[in-house]
Amino acid sequence: MTVTIVGSQLGDEGKGGIVDVWGDAADVVARYQGGDNAGHTVVEDGTEYKLSLVPSGAVRGKVGVLGNGCVINPETLFEEIDALRERGLDPDVRVARRAHVILPYHRVLDGIEEEVKSDSDVKVGTTGRGIGPTYEDKMGRRGIRVGDLLDPDVLREKLEYVVPQKRALAEDVFGVEVGEEFDIAALYDQYKRYGERLEENDMTVAAGEFLADRMDDGEEVMFEGAQGTIIDIDHGNYPYVTSSNPTAGGAATGTGLSPGVVGGGEIVGIVKAYLTRVGSGPLPTELGGVEGDTPGYDEQGAGENEELATYIREEGGEYGTVTGRPRRVGWLDMPMLRHSTRANGFTGLAVNHIDVLSGLDEVKVGHSYDLRGEERFTIPATTEMWSECEPNFKSFEGWESVDWGEVAETGYDAIPANARTYLEYVSDELDTDIYAVGVGPGREETVVVEDPFA
Ligand code: IMP
Repeated sequence: MTVTIVGSQLGDEGKGGIVDVWGDAADVVARYQGGDNAGHTVVEDGTEYKLSLVPSGAVRGKVGVLGNGCVINPETLFEEIDALRERGLDPDVRVARRAHVILPYHRVLDGIEEEVKSDSDVKVGTTGRGIGPTYEDKMGRRGIRVGDLLDPDVLREKLEYVVPQKRALAEDVFGVEVGEEFDIAALYDQYKRYGERLEENDMTVAAGEFLADRMDDGEEVMFEGAQGTIIDIDHGNYPYVTSSNPTAGGAATGTGLSPGVVGGGEIVGIVKAYLTRVGSGPLPTELGGVEGDTPGYDEQGAGENEELATYIREEGGEYGTVTGRPRRVGWLDMPMLRHSTRANGFTGLAVNHIDVLSGLDEVKVGHSYDLRGEERFTIPATTEMWSECEPNFKSFEGWESVDWGEVAETGYDAIPANARTYLEYVSDELDTDIYAVGVGPGREETVVVEDPFA
């Protein structure tokens, strides 16, 4: 069977840790979208592994697959593999031949576009990893795929077609002087070598066939979503989104298995007990703004709840894994989670970071929104309308800080009663069972209520 792990909010819900807990039962962990814009932190025996491309299951000796829906920066891929090897691990990573390759010019163009937009509301605040420009080329049918790196003639031909266009875009449209990143010969040499290394290590696969064969052999597959539903290109808050489909449907198109396979398994929504956002876009339950990211920050500043936001940010270590940027912080947003539950068809939930909220007198939740005189229970389809939404808060009594390690060992009933009330409200509202509760960053600090592979 399969278990699909999906971020229910804006990314950074702690998916890596949950994949790590349940990944034990999986034989294969496959990513289906995104690239090295993701940040997975896996803590094992006190050692922290920060990965952005290699599936977190690789830390646990699973076969890691980067599906056709991913965009691959070979430099990051090999850096991460080498770093894991240096720490004594032997990651087995397979890359779909249909996956698209991030080239240096994609990263440069990502930076240029963000710079051009920097003084306006349309700035996304991307991770600068070239994700958007690479997916643009994929959709524009001018992308370079992993399979192309294995055939030097094809690689050269494709570079000769696309690089002059990219150079013209940078120089003639944006007026930027470009360098080696746009040099066909240099790119050819470098990417041909990546192809050779992929081939020598037998790392490329036809992902759909590879996974289907594994499943036929009775193996368990976990799909590891990156980012989150509200930054999905279709179901998120466009244009403040990433350029792929983190939602569960992406697990089918992004691996080559059918929607029936994905839907026939479990789909677990990972929920952070509060909300964070990196980059721009509305956030109705935002507590304290971050300069450069929160819309309207220049006029209104960080807001009256800045202290509380700072407290949660520090307690939760809410700084970007990839970029180190401070994350915007808000209360849990139920309209967002209702939208996410519908779009993904969650069969279970894992709620993380309830320990971070401990010690507060009161914990709030945005239960619904007021929009133009109407109460709304899910998010509107346009970003403009979403930014007009005023949350109606529900208040919960806070819970004390306890020995969370002991709670994880003892089980769900050891979670402080007020925190359980909070969790049960979320579960009831979304009509979805809670499978796990994260009470700390370590793998052991997870209360497992139900194992989706069992
Ligand atoms: P991109 O994916 O680099 O194009 O960035 C697009 C938007 O998605 C920006 O707002 C990023 O901050 C956000 N984003 C991308 N990856 C992640 C992630 O792993 N966690 C949270 N936000 C992300």
